[in-house]
This record gives sequence, structure tokens and C-alpha cells, in this order.
Amino acid sequence: MAILEVNNLKAYYVTHTFGRSSTVRAVDGVSFQVNKNEIYGIAGESGCGKSTLLKAISGLVKPPLQILDGEVGYNFDDERLDILSLRDDRKRRKLRGARISLIPQGSMSVLNPVRRVRKAFEDVIYAHLDVSEKEFEELVSRHLLALGLDWTVMHTYPHQLSGGMRQRITIALSTILRPDIIFADEPTTALDVVVQRGVVQLIKKIKEEQQNTLIMVTHDMSIHANLCDRLAVMYAGEIVEEGDVQSIFSAPKHPYTTMLLDSLPKVGDSSARVSAPGAPPSLVDPPEGCRFHPRCPHVMERCRVESPVLNGLGNGHRVACFLQEGGK
Ligand SMILES: Nc1ncnc2c1ncn2[C@@H]1O[C@H](COP(=O)(O)OP(=O)(O)OP(=O)(O)O)[C@@H](O)[C@H]1O
Ligand SMILES: [Mg+2]
Repeated sequence: MAILEVNNLKAYYVTHTFGRSSTVRAVDGVSFQVNKNEIYGIAGESGCGKSTLLKAISGLVKPPLQILDGEVGYNFDDERLDILSLRDDRKRRKLRGARISLIPQGSMSVLNPVRRVRKAFEDVIYAHLDVSEKEFEELVSRHLLALGLDWTVMHTYPHQLSGGMRQRITIALSTILRPDIIFADEPTTALDVVVQRGVVQLIKKIKEEQQNTLIMVTHDMSIHANLCDRLAVMYAGEIVEEGDVQSIFSAPKHPYTTMLLDSLPKVGDSSARVSAPGAPPSLVDPPEGCRFHPRCPHVMERCRVESPVLNGLGNGHRVACFLQEGGK
């Protein structure tokens, strides 16, 4: 069953500088569903709209970000709601943290540098639960213990901790209320490989213990391969391919996905890796037709004028590319 249903979501940044307005079409007509209990990955190059998509679906929409169109529906066990139609900001805040939780990109932006870690836990817990100090301490120490963290971190300031430790604390904060669905935005990007592995294992452990749904955003394809059940590949504000991780990695159908996978190192292959040629397009004025056509090795006339839509290939694999329609 789908816990999250996103339908034709359009989230743009609209800015006005010196009398000129500019629109960045960061998320441009995205539709997908996430099933209860699964780990759903979102991949794509820097700037393709991954963080904007997470902000929009978790209801964190503040100017200059605007929702132009679409629906974001959550099916919880006891209620169904469309987060974008919730007008009351207090209701949205209640929903975040308790039912939906976002582990944002960059742990330093979550922890206040001039306040001890304990204050961050107090803010989260007292905003949602009516508990005594003793209950607060019990709840936090149980959660920290489960995550392999020591109570002493509560007395520290963020700068006294390593990057890996800060990220673990951010994860602990985001999951202490046992949300139904967790969004993790590049939780491993600033960390070295060994620490990265520990953080991924931690996220997996929490997900298994709490039996919730996880959406994992990262441009690191090896994390998707190791962690996710299904994967969506984004390019320039759109999903260009979606399917289960196994079939995407073994038989990618979109030339952009192939390009992403070709840039990964492979065991036993010492030839130079090809990185994706060209650069992602501007989202202020994206290319006509298929947005990938200027970089595509298989570009056809039709791709310059028509935009392909996501089409099902069976087995839940979807791809937006004219090559799948027989090439003409
Ligand atoms: N506050 C903002 N105002 C205007 N444009 C913005 C703003 N934030 C992001 N953008 C633009 O929106 C587009 C999508 O950005 P977003 O942060 O969602 O990408 P991303 O895929 O998360 O990238 P990364 O992998 O670097 O985190 C980019 O072109 C970015 O420059
Ligand atoms: Mg991002």
C-alpha cells in the first residue's frame, strides 16, 4: 500500500531582484508513490531538485519556494491527508517530527552552535509530547543507547563533536518520535567513506527497528545499490527513470541513468571511468523537448521538440525516453 502519493508536483523558486523576476523550475511535474515500509531512493546530479522535492513533500514551503501545482497525499494508518492543502502552519509542524521526519542536508544547520545538544532534544520532544523531565531523560537515553550513542553527548556543543557524530545526533533527533516516514537528504555526503558506512548502517537499523518508511536522497549510486528497494533518477527537475534497484542497476533504460552508472568504479575493471559529459541545464530556462537531449549520445530529432513522459515497461519499471518507443 502507498503511504505517500505525489501527483504532478511543481515547486518553483520565484525571485525578484532589481525589478526583474526569475523562476527556477526546480521540481517540474513529478509523480511517484512510495509503499509502506520500503526504502525508496532518489538519485541525480547536484542541482537537479532533490532537496527541493523533499522540502515540498514535507510541507516546508517558504518563499521564494512556491508550489504551483500538484498533490502530496499521505496515507497513515488512521488518516489520509494532503499536506499541501493544510493551511494551518501549526498542523503542518505537528505532522513533521511526529509522523514525517526530515533529516536535512548538512547536520551543522540543524544543531544550533551556541546551544548544547540537550537543548535540541528538548525542543523536539516538548513540542510534541507532554512529558516530565524524568520521562524525557528516559526516552532520550533509551533512543541514544539503541543508536550506540552515549548520554554524555547531551552536554556537548556541536563543534566539540566530529562530523560523523553530529550526523548521528541529527539522525537520533529526527527519529526519536518514531515517525511513520523518514526523509534523509544526503546524510552521508560530508563524511569519509568509513564513517559513511556506519551512518548508512545506523539508518538501516533504525528503519528496521521502527518499521517505518524511508526515502533516501543521495547522488551516491553505491549507497542506493546497498540500501534501497526502489529508485527514482531525477534529471533537471523531473524523474526520468524509476524502478526496483535490481533492474535499474542491471538494465538501466534511460541514457542518463546509464551515464550515472558508467561513472561508478567496478571491481576488476581498471579502465578509466567516463564521467558524464556536459553540465546539467539551467532550470530557469531548461532545454526544449527532452531536457537531457543536449547531453544524450542517442539524441534524435524528436527529442529536441517533444518531451517524453514516464511510461511503464512492466515490472514497475518506468522510463521517460523515446528510445523505448522503438527509437522513432
Ligand atoms: N532558495 C533558492 N532560491 C533560488 N533557487 C534555488 C534556491 N534553492 C535552490 N535553488 C535552485 O533550485 C535547483 C534545485 O536545487 P536543489 O537544492 O533542490 O538541488 P539538489 O538536487 O538537492 O542538489 P544537491 O545535490 O547539490 O543538494 C538548483 O538549480 C538550485 O540552484
Ligand atoms: Mg540537495
